[in-house]
Amino acid sequence: MRSPVQQYLEAIVEQCAGTDGEVAGYIPELAAADPDQFALALATVDGHVYEVGDIGARYSIQSISKPFTYALALADQGRKAVAEKVDVEPSGEAFNEISLASGTGRPRNPMINAGAITTASLVAGADAEERFRRVRAWYSDFAGRELGFDEAVYASELATAHRNRAIAHLLREFGILRGDPEPTLDQYIRQCSVAVDTRDLALMAATLANGGVQPRSGRRVLPATDVEQVLSVMATCGMYDAAGDWLSTVGMPAKSGVSGGIIAILPGQAGLAVFSPRLDAHGNSARGVAVCERMSRDMEMHLM
Ligand code: DON
Repeated sequence: MRSPVQQYLEAIVEQCAGTDGEVAGYIPELAAADPDQFALALATVDGHVYEVGDIGARYSIQSISKPFTYALALADQGRKAVAEKVDVEPSGEAFNEISLASGTGRPRNPMINAGAITTASLVAGADAEERFRRVRAWYSDFAGRELGFDEAVYASELATAHRNRAIAHLLREFGILRGDPEPTLDQYIRQCSVAVDTRDLALMAATLANGGVQPRSGRRVLPATDVEQVLSVMATCGMYDAAGDWLSTVGMPAKSGVSGGIIAILPGQAGLAVFSPRLDAHGNSARGVAVCERMSRDMEMHLM
């Protein structure tokens, strides 16, 4: 017998399946995604996972990686050292905007590409290769299993990353990055290419909802004070130039990725993940936004 929660989630997926949008085209490999894939997972802080739709679909994590790398930079360097390199102000601009403070070159926040390339460089490690090894292991701790890597998406993005390459070199010019910016750019593109499914994302979100303790392994992954900082930045900056609209309609800290994922966090209760590659004009999953708006309204998830 399907539980009432399971039945409710299935109904939501059915009702939001008509929401339209365009699959990302600027990374050639992402343009090949099946536009009709649609999955929803809800992981509670006691470790139960509800799943609906194309739950076996695997895809690159893309920008949903950003809050987790920011978390690792905070854990490695402390809040003050990270804040010296990257601000926490919403930019009100697109994810790939060259949004650097005039004079210092400090990126506006760690959720836009400029800020995320910077936080990638703040992960501890002898070189970019070791930093990426740590990043992948870190994401895996949140998901509760070893995450894979999408070589095709990585190669495709690396070959077309002209804008991110320009951003990385500008960051180097301002002294925000040190040394050769290319290995850091490569590390950032690798982190975006970590392969997940919607269940993984829901459990990563639930770890944040659970104050930094992975609900299934029971392991503390992140100190509670860093969780607070990460959720604050997700709430104000996670949905880019749609962040204000998102916070007023959905009211939860969240992060989207251009492959079609969205995570949203209900602190103390659950992590929600939706996947559908059709994107809206802000580069956020159109059906993902529709599902979250709907659930927030129906289940009174709005935190404000
Ligand atoms: O840097 C990029 O362009 C991609 N690897 C990630 C962008 C992304 O996911 C934006 N999110 N909606």
